[in-house]
Amino acid sequence: MKIHYTRVKKWFGFFCYFMLTLVGAVSAANVPIAQRTDTQQKPTLLIVKPYQITVDGKTATVYRIEQPNGTWGFHGIKGQDFNVIVKNEIAEPTVIHWHGLLLPNSQDGVPYVTQLPILPGQEYHYDFKLVQAGTYWMHSHYQFQLQQLLSAPLIIEDPNDANKNEQNVVLLLTDFSFKKPDIIWKDLRKDEEKNKQNKMTHSMSKSMAAPDLNDVKYDAYLTNYRTLTNPEVVTVKPGAVVRLRLIDGAAGSNYFIHLGSLTGTAIAADGESIEPLKGSIFTLAMGQRLDVLVKIPEGPGVYPILAQGEGTTMQTGLILATSGAKIPAFSNTAATVVGAVTNAQELELKALHPLAKKPIDRVLTVNLEGDMSQYKWTINGQAWPNITPFEIKQGQRVEIIFNNKTSMSHPMHLHGHVFEVIEIDGKPIQGALRDTVLLTPNSTMKVILDADNSGNWLLHCHLLYHGAAGMMTLVDYEGYPKPDLNLIKKEDSM
Ligand code: C2O
Ligand code: CU
Repeated sequence: MKIHYTRVKKWFGFFCYFMLTLVGAVSAANVPIAQRTDTQQKPTLLIVKPYQITVDGKTATVYRIEQPNGTWGFHGIKGQDFNVIVKNEIAEPTVIHWHGLLLPNSQDGVPYVTQLPILPGQEYHYDFKLVQAGTYWMHSHYQFQLQQLLSAPLIIEDPNDANKNEQNVVLLLTDFSFKKPDIIWKDLRKDEEKNKQNKMTHSMSKSMAAPDLNDVKYDAYLTNYRTLTNPEVVTVKPGAVVRLRLIDGAAGSNYFIHLGSLTGTAIAADGESIEPLKGSIFTLAMGQRLDVLVKIPEGPGVYPILAQGEGTTMQTGLILATSGAKIPAFSNTAATVVGAVTNAQELELKALHPLAKKPIDRVLTVNLEGDMSQYKWTINGQAWPNITPFEIKQGQRVEIIFNNKTSMSHPMHLHGHVFEVIEIDGKPIQGALRDTVLLTPNSTMKVILDADNSGNWLLHCHLLYHGAAGMMTLVDYEGYPKPDLNLIKKEDSM
């Protein structure tokens, strides 16, 4: 698709640079939340703009979502309005999705399903009530922009939360490549061609080697846009309790979170309260969030919070340090490779407020299929946008059975709802409430939800390239007007 949009005016670039120098020293993500709830009446402006980062001494232009005062993303209060104008100041269309929020379908930010793309220079107004509290995030749902870091924290505070006075530290984890995502995509597809030929020439060959844990080889993992060799350092008080708000915003990476010498207590998964779970290592899949309380020991100290990518030695993170502590150098690589994320943690999680007991009215079976060598990923044999939506009815208790028939893991995300995990690999549990669940290789999971939010809702793998290769579908409510998916087919063919 070749469209030439007018370039962002030069003065605007200078303006951004000026603003950045003003706010540069402050980490906008980590100022106390209480200071940030001034303007509930008039809309908050969220500007989508280009952003320069430095990775291993090389600069790259990615994207950012920030308010005119430099605040990264959005911080709101449960019960108040999410009244936001998204302004597109990049040279291509975009659409921002509010991941994990329960909202009217028209506000969901999915191109061609709930709205048209926001063209360069244009604005789009979102306005709905925040009915949840917790750690959420926002990200582009347009083409491959998530890979270009077009995402930001979306934190909602509960005025009645017992932990509301803890210092909040947001860690938005991403994966970065100097390659443009459409090149990454073409390379993944090229491998497909190669594999096809291999198969033809040696039909008996064992060329289908054990699948890699990672489709894409990244150049770096980032936390709040920074590498571990140049990390964000957050000052903490000796003896204080800090609430880590961990967000896996990566396009293609699951992480192990290492708290080092600290012991953490996980208190929420995907924004929903869980029974406290203690540990010093946690796992996080693409699209998921985890809130972990850590107690800072008395006396001076430096406490790195590290995230290591599944199947790699690569790591990212940020540093908690008491005032004046000397910060040692950290490396972007860990000493040893870490293995695959398993179901171990998920089996331990338990919602604090599980769904009411109710008979199941409707079962959706979601078979995840495809394989690495073809780079084709499907749901029940269908590839987005050539799909038949699932149909549910308002008021139903719905069970979704996920069958991962592939040897790769898939972080499956449903828009506009939270679901409760009730079974993993045949083992019944009273699990967490979530919006994203990791289907590990050849695993099955059952989740339940209440159909109480009419609309057309995306259900998809959050690994960006699996979604692009087809692993996306819709859950539609009976009676709600259907979107025209032909618009997507048209855009794809341009
Ligand atoms: Cu994080 Cu379809 O969304
Ligand atoms: Cu997937």
